[in-house]
Amino acid sequence: MTAPWWQTAVFYQIYPRSFAASRPSPTGDLAGIAARLDHLAWLGVDALWISPFYPSPQADFGYDVSDHCDVDPVYGDLADFDGLLAACHARDLKLLVDLVPNHTSDQHPWFQAAQSSRDDPKRDWYIWRDGSPDTPPNNWRAAFVHTPAWTWDDATGQWYLHLFLPEQPDLNWANPEVVEAMHGVMRFWLDRGVDGFRIDVVHGLGKAPGLPDDPEGTTLPHATLNDTAENHEIIRGLRRVVDAYPGDRLILGEVYLLDTERVATYYGHADELQLAFNFPPLYTPWKGRRWRDQLADTERWIEARGGWPTWVLSNHDNPRHRTRYGSEARARASLFLLLGLRGSPVLYAGEEIGLEDAHIPPDRVVDPGGRDGCRAPVPWTGDPDHGWGVTDPWLPWPPEPDVRNVAAQVADAGSIVHLYRRLLAARKASPALQLGDHAPVETPDGVVAWRRVGPEGGGDRVVAVNMGAEPARLDVAGRVVVASDGAGEGEPFGGTLAGDSAVLIEP
Ligand code: NOJ
Repeated sequence: MTAPWWQTAVFYQIYPRSFAASRPSPTGDLAGIAARLDHLAWLGVDALWISPFYPSPQADFGYDVSDHCDVDPVYGDLADFDGLLAACHARDLKLLVDLVPNHTSDQHPWFQAAQSSRDDPKRDWYIWRDGSPDTPPNNWRAAFVHTPAWTWDDATGQWYLHLFLPEQPDLNWANPEVVEAMHGVMRFWLDRGVDGFRIDVVHGLGKAPGLPDDPEGTTLPHATLNDTAENHEIIRGLRRVVDAYPGDRLILGEVYLLDTERVATYYGHADELQLAFNFPPLYTPWKGRRWRDQLADTERWIEARGGWPTWVLSNHDNPRHRTRYGSEARARASLFLLLGLRGSPVLYAGEEIGLEDAHIPPDRVVDPGGRDGCRAPVPWTGDPDHGWGVTDPWLPWPPEPDVRNVAAQVADAGSIVHLYRRLLAARKASPALQLGDHAPVETPDGVVAWRRVGPEGGGDRVVAVNMGAEPARLDVAGRVVVASDGAGEGEPFGGTLAGDSAVLIEP
C-alpha cells in the first residue's frame, strides 16, 4: 500500500495578511500568494495551509469569521481563490484551507439572528445561559483577554459563551443543525477542490454536559483545557465528510492541549484526525535532554497507537523559533528536527529566510493576544517597499529587512534558505527520511541523534543535532549529506559535531 500524500508531504503555513500583496497594499492577498508560488516550488515544499481569508471584522485577524463560504475583499474574491488553487495544483502543491468551526464572528448572520431574540430559530446555535448580570454561569476564562469566557447580553438577558474574544461566540455543536451547517461549509470547499483542512481549536467543539467548572484557582483559559468525550464523535463526523471525497482529503487538527498523551487520543482509531498538531515540542527549550523526552513522548503516545506525528516550531500564534532559540545557528540546526524526525513537518512562512519576530512598538500593537511580532510581513526584496508597493505595511517589518529578504537570501548560496532547499531535497530523495522507522543513536548529553531506517531495507540515514554550545563527538561513520553550517557536505563525516549545529549522514 502506498502512503497517503500527507505522510510524505512537507507543509508550509501562509498567514495571508503578511505573505505577499498583488498590488500596492499594507496587507497581502490571495493573488499575491499565487504570484509567489514559484518561490515555494523552488524551495521544495509540498502542501500549503492558508490561515483564514474569509469575510471577517478582523477582531482576531480572520479567526472571527462572518461568512465561511466567501473571501474577504481585503484578500480578493472566490475567483482569486479558484485561481490560486489551480496554480497550486499545476505545481503539484496541495492546498489546505483553515476551518474555524468552534466559533463565529459576532457579526455572522447566524449570531445576529441568535442574538435578536430568545425565540429565534438560531438561538440554540450558540451557547446561552441564564443568570444574573454580575455572576457568570461558570468559572471558565476566555483566551487572550483575561476575562470570564461569558458575555452578558443585555437585550435578551442571558450570557453567551466565548472561549476566545467576546467577538467570537462559541457555536453549540450539541445542536445537529450546527453540525450539518459546518459539514456544508466543508463540502463547499471540498467541492471547489481543496485537499483538506487545518481545523482551528478542534478540541474545543464538544462541551461537557452541564459545563462544569474548571479546577478552582486555574488561571488557564478554558480553551486549553476542553478535552471532552463529546469531541471524538464530532471529529468522527468531520472525518466522514472528507472521507466521502476521493484523494485522501486531510483533516489536520489544532489540538491545543499541552499534553502529548491527550493529543494522541484525537487520532481516534484511524477514524478521527489523520494529523494532529502536537505543541509540547514547540515549547521545549534548546536542550538535548528535554528534546529526547519529547521524542520519547511522541513515540510512546502517538506512534504507539498508529498515529502519524507532526512537527512544528513556528506559527502565527507564537514567537518564531529563530527568536526563541536566539541564533541563526540554532534555527538552522532545528530544521533537522523538523525534516528529520518521523512525521509530517509544518513550516511557517518566513522561517526559511531566518526571520525573527518584528519589534512592535506600543502604538503599533493590534492583536489582543500579543502575537503581532511573528505576524510581521515577509520582506521579498531589499527595496524600501520590500516587494509590497508600500513602505509601511500593517505591521512593522521584521529586523534587518534590507538583507533578510527572500531575494537577498536566494542570491546567497550560503544562506539559510539554501539550507532549507537542500534538506528538503534530501528528504524528498530519501524513503528512509520520508517514511522510515526510527531508532535512537547513543550520544553525549547535549546531542539528540536518531537513525531513520529505509523502509525497503538499505538507504538508512542518521540525523544528529547538537544543542550544546561545545563540539561533541559522534560515533557514526558515513557521508555528510547536509550540514546545518554547510561544512563538509559530500565528504566523510569527521566524527565531531560543532555546537549548535546538525548533520544528516548517509551511513
Ligand atoms: C487558534 C488560532 O491559531 C488562533 O490564531 C486563534 O486566535 C484562535 N484559535 C481562535 O480562533
